[in-house]
Amino acid sequence: MANQDKINELIQKRAEAKLGGGEKRIDSQHAKGKLTARERIDILLDDNSFEEFDMFVTHRTKSFGLDKQIYLSDGVVTGHGTIDGRIVYVFSQDFTVFGGSLSETYALKICKVMDMAMKIGVPVIGLNDSGGARIQEGVRSLAGYAEIFQRNIMASGVIPQISSILGPCAGGAVYSPALTDFTIMTDQTSYMFVTGPKVVQTVTGEVVTTEQLGGAQIHSTKSGVSHFLAENDEENLLLIRKLMSYLPSNNLEEPPSIVCDDPIDRLDDILNEMIPENANQPYDIVDVISVLVDNGEFTEVHRNYARNICVGFARFNGRSVGIVANQPKYYAGVLDIEASRKAARFVRFCDAFNIPIVTLVDVPGFLPGTGQEYGGIILHGAKLLFAYGEATVPKVTITLRKSYGGAHDVMSCKQLRGDLNYAWPTAEIAVMGAKGAVEVLEGSNIRKIEDAEEKQEYIDKKEDEYNDKFANPYVAAKYGFIDDVIEPRNTRFRIIRGLELLANKKEVNPPKKHSNIPL
Ligand code: HXC
Repeated sequence: MANQDKINELIQKRAEAKLGGGEKRIDSQHAKGKLTARERIDILLDDNSFEEFDMFVTHRTKSFGLDKQIYLSDGVVTGHGTIDGRIVYVFSQDFTVFGGSLSETYALKICKVMDMAMKIGVPVIGLNDSGGARIQEGVRSLAGYAEIFQRNIMASGVIPQISSILGPCAGGAVYSPALTDFTIMTDQTSYMFVTGPKVVQTVTGEVVTTEQLGGAQIHSTKSGVSHFLAENDEENLLLIRKLMSYLPSNNLEEPPSIVCDDPIDRLDDILNEMIPENANQPYDIVDVISVLVDNGEFTEVHRNYARNICVGFARFNGRSVGIVANQPKYYAGVLDIEASRKAARFVRFCDAFNIPIVTLVDVPGFLPGTGQEYGGIILHGAKLLFAYGEATVPKVTITLRKSYGGAHDVMSCKQLRGDLNYAWPTAEIAVMGAKGAVEVLEGSNIRKIEDAEEKQEYIDKKEDEYNDKFANPYVAAKYGFIDDVIEPRNTRFRIIRGLELLANKKEVNPPKKHSNIPL
């Protein structure tokens, strides 16, 4: 064959690979409002930065007539490219080839890019759209999944791993995303479940739709499996780019820093008025965060899940931070099982990737009751406690209003190695609120008073006394548990100066195999 013929053969093979499962299936993918595996990569990566690996890989199965169904690339597109000039490895599952289902060779392709990413120290981004294990390949497919899972586990905390869910993900296809750091689902076109609705009905008799069982809305609100909800494939992929802008490439690097054009010392008078006079009146903590951070830009994680706590990424003076803040707008910002799990995982992510944590506290306590106790709030609350106590990144805590009881301790208090703990003059740092405290301390005296009006007067008086004595930041400040009481409008500057002070902080935990966090 002449050289030119050989080159033409290459060009023709490349064109064939790019067609995946063929025009018809591509059209069907588009008709569902979904993009193809390669179109997704084009949106995700910087223009012309993608370099593909293993385009000529095919499966090795002969049974079930598969020897007559050979597709170049075998249902997954893999390689590397850049996001804002920084290298990432990518695999993008191609639903047009056997429904994106995973074969042995397909798994090897994914493992290859994961191994390369670990060698180089750069993130892995998985674009998932798969019917799970390729049924015709049997146990070889299961083994392929396990190879990927093992790599997900080894890469955890070393390189960021991000999963987009862009179609049905069933069976084994859901566990690899679950082992990664962030999962982004697309509304109406993506699903995650261990077993589909038909199996559910057979085994349990329960009748559910795909959407009800594992749709993007469900996983973004009820289960928390998904960290972000996107309107469509494009928004999903652009969210990855945004998320990446806050993250370092690996755990030995600092997060990227950008030039900040927002004055670091601006005074935000609005913050002086932010806390309502009535301690039971809610406000939106996102309003406070938006005032504090660079250019009001806050990328909230898990926005629709456990809304009584708010977590996400922002920048102070151009540097990435993770923000954890109680959200008084929902259930008064109380800590419950879901909020504890959500925040604990976020704190651990930030700590693993050298992202300082800024904590904004306004928490009435842990949610009481059998629902929480039976669900194991003790263990789940302990997760957050553990995460903060274990974290060695810079930790700056601002108490805005309530900080009561166990929740005070949990929310990055001084003794959990909070580096800088500031409070606003509106802070109330105590064992419990006045109502509960008076009931406990004055119970026997209150019961002795028969006249109802007199009884109420006594309670009011005792509550006022308690509030005057304890519902302020100065008792904690007296003991040095709060480093300073600051004017709210100065908060941005105090946080930025604090983070700069802590930039070279070194804190090392004792050597061990690993900790035993209460899972
Ligand atoms: C082989 C598969 C496949 C699979 C889909 N296809 N899933 N081929 N193995 N797992 C093929 C179909 O035969 C079809 O081929 C094409 O992909 C598109 O599938 P459709 O069913 O036509 O598409 P759709 O209606 O959109 O439904 C998508 C789906 C459904 C919801 C994913 O296909 C489905 O339920 N698949 C099975 C899911 C599942 O139970 N997987 C097993 C997981 S077990 P043609 O030629 O017609 O285009 C597992 C264990 C791993 O993963 C455990 C590790 C821990």
